[in-house]
Amino acid sequence: MATAQAQPNIALIKYWGKRDVCRNLPAVGSLSLTLATLWTRMKVEFSTDIEADRLLVDGEIAAAMLPRVSRCLDQVAGCDRPHALIESDCNFPIAAGLASSASAFAALVVAANEACIEAGNIVAASRTTLDLARLAGAASGSAARSLFGGIVELVAGDARINVATMKQPPAWPLRVVVAVTERGHKPVASGDAMILSEKSSPFYSSWVRNQDQDLEVARSAVETRDFAQLAAVSEHNCLKMHSVMWTSRPPVVYWKPATLACMEAIRALQSEGQPVFFTMDAGPQVKAICLPDNEAQVMKTLSEIEGVETVMSSGLGTGACLLDDA
Ligand code: PMV
Repeated sequence: MATAQAQPNIALIKYWGKRDVCRNLPAVGSLSLTLATLWTRMKVEFSTDIEADRLLVDGEIAAAMLPRVSRCLDQVAGCDRPHALIESDCNFPIAAGLASSASAFAALVVAANEACIEAGNIVAASRTTLDLARLAGAASGSAARSLFGGIVELVAGDARINVATMKQPPAWPLRVVVAVTERGHKPVASGDAMILSEKSSPFYSSWVRNQDQDLEVARSAVETRDFAQLAAVSEHNCLKMHSVMWTSRPPVVYWKPATLACMEAIRALQSEGQPVFFTMDAGPQVKAICLPDNEAQVMKTLSEIEGVETVMSSGLGTGACLLDDA
């Protein structure tokens, strides 16, 4: 038995599209921020006394998510593993575009691997953080990035991914303000939507083709801590990803009126000279990236927008880690 915690991550240069659906390999590289204050905790207990895998999310049985979780446990512990009881707790809304699958699968892999080590599994004992990131990425592409803290880059390869921290949290104290515009589950799962985009959006191929250029600009912005450059390339990359979604058939639209209202408010803050930019994922929530000095203003502005239910904020945090079961 072992318990682990992982924080969600927010991509600035996005992962959208798969080069290999079976192995869940991303078509493009990505760059993200691992958060500090939002978390998912996963407790995994393997036992021959358990008759079938059982998943509890925030205390409730979660049958729909169980097959994906079981497949991930097979990858970590082998298909001949004992059944498991998995208990998950999360301090933010799940499946609503807040990267809950990233923190969930990152924490699941770390907890399951530790439970295997305790049971004497030599393969598990030899795994590096990158190995764990690859296992998490096989379950949810973005989860690979939550194994690492700070500003993280994922490099997409033909056979496997590489993931590493580019800058540790103290090196550039960015703040992420999350405006929750709706708490419901998203209409289409991101994995299904990506496959649809590849099949039907006329913009998909140029999205994939231009990603390396965006990554290069973002990488140099991070290296030189150039906020304006990071803001410009991140917003552009986000809007390109959503254009691919919107032009899929049927269209994949995650935004709500409040999503657009938040974007406009952020643009107004920018025109006053405030360092802030937006990004949105497979959901209607808006994430505003800013600096410590203007965080209070960004939180106030977003919280006053009609349709915004809650505003949360976080700095950059560490990668997934084990928790003491006691
Ligand atoms: O990891 P998945 O399958 O939930 O895909 C996440 C995709 C986006 O959140 C929209 C973008 C990203 O890079 O995180």
